[in-house]
Amino acid sequence: MNKLSACSSMACGISLQPKMVLASLRVRKQGNGRCTNVPRNVNLEKLQNNYLFPEISKRELQHLEKYPNAKVISLGIGDTTEPIPEQISLSMANYARALSTADGYRGYGAEQGNQALRKAIAETFYKDVAIKDTEVFVSDGSQCDISRLQLLLGSKVTIAVQDPSFPGYIDSSVIIGQAGDFQDKTGKYQNIEYMQLGPQNNFFPDLTVTPRTDIIFFCSPNNPTGHAATRKQLQQLVEFARDNGSIIIFDSAYAAYISDDSPKSIFEIPGAKEVAIEISSFSKFAGFTGVRLGWTVVPEELLFSGGFPVIHDFNRIVCTCFNGASNIAQAGGLACLSPEGFQAICAVIDYYKENAKILVDTFASLGLEVYGGVNAPYVWVHFPGSKSWNIFAEILEKTHIITVPGSGFGPGGGEYIRISAFGKRKHIIEASWRLEKLFSKGKPLFNCLK
Ligand SMILES: Cc1ncc(COP(=O)(O)O)c(C=O)c1O
Repeated sequence: MNKLSACSSMACGISLQPKMVLASLRVRKQGNGRCTNVPRNVNLEKLQNNYLFPEISKRELQHLEKYPNAKVISLGIGDTTEPIPEQISLSMANYARALSTADGYRGYGAEQGNQALRKAIAETFYKDVAIKDTEVFVSDGSQCDISRLQLLLGSKVTIAVQDPSFPGYIDSSVIIGQAGDFQDKTGKYQNIEYMQLGPQNNFFPDLTVTPRTDIIFFCSPNNPTGHAATRKQLQQLVEFARDNGSIIIFDSAYAAYISDDSPKSIFEIPGAKEVAIEISSFSKFAGFTGVRLGWTVVPEELLFSGGFPVIHDFNRIVCTCFNGASNIAQAGGLACLSPEGFQAICAVIDYYKENAKILVDTFASLGLEVYGGVNAPYVWVHFPGSKSWNIFAEILEKTHIITVPGSGFGPGGGEYIRISAFGKRKHIIEASWRLEKLFSKGKPLFNCLK
């Protein structure tokens, strides 16, 4: 540690003023930029550079340079495309307008969220499982809550993730300092347990060979595989966590897409309240990806090893690191959970589900192994023996369709691509038509099938 960074602000006091001046003069130069004397966070150094979606955007731009007139269809990133139903956007507009009036003006709200919204979330999603409104924390989206939960847990816990899974769990784990170095050979970080998912295990990890970890991130319906865990599978997961004294962080961001009787919440499983936290979101449920609204449920029954309630620490994190979701977004959230708002949202979800069905049918008709798309807006296609970036490149080259290479979700996705069902119907139909047309011409669309 150098002298300047060793100096705490309390110890420095006024006598350090000349040193501070010195410090500003002692900026080292590297390349063309000026460097400070602050070392980079070693955890961030460990993160892999090629973040998935910027790399996909780069490939899309390169493709457009090569084919300037191509009508590229993006079934990649998984952002919603349909307008928010009017009664919901109106409620946000009215709330925003009222902020300009003496009666309607509001400043900070409760850090944990608007009381009426907490109650509406508890009643809409958790009525049968008796989650209290005080156990619901409204947030600005579940990605932000994943990081706040990592802050709550700290760097000393061990974690397990599904492989493949949403990248936010692993990246936030690396940033907080739970992970070791990235291993090029395996495509995995040390100290993280990767629970492999695939058709061989019905997309549910083999818990008999899974080592104990403190935390288990579990997403159902899973992004990217689209698989919703069955009740029996979730019972096994809860039993596993109870036996090991672990905490499950259950991500139900896509629960609204479940069509069969798979549980929509981990709290449907008896005993889960003592071993689980649930994170969820209005993003894919109500098209709020840009509005930003989500929630986290921390049951009172969930205790740390010393008996301290997790909910108290989470409350502290929320009060310290967050100051509550936007009150305009929360007005929108309340409108989503009104009977009319809810009905309108369900119609949009049905639209995306129909898109997913069209995509599943198309890939199946091409003779490919297709998963997902029934309980989730993602279709997961297997190309045994191939590399996902090659499949991505080949589909883009031959059909001008953007997909997502499965390896971006972990080594377990290396032979897959993910196709998003978020899109305008005409684009989904056009995409299916392009795939079918190429195939029916007798040209082998996928080299890996040759
Ligand atoms: C599984 C999963 N969890 C969380 C998120 C983040 O959602 P939010 O928009 O609420 O931050 C996403 C976004 O795609 C996701 O797929």
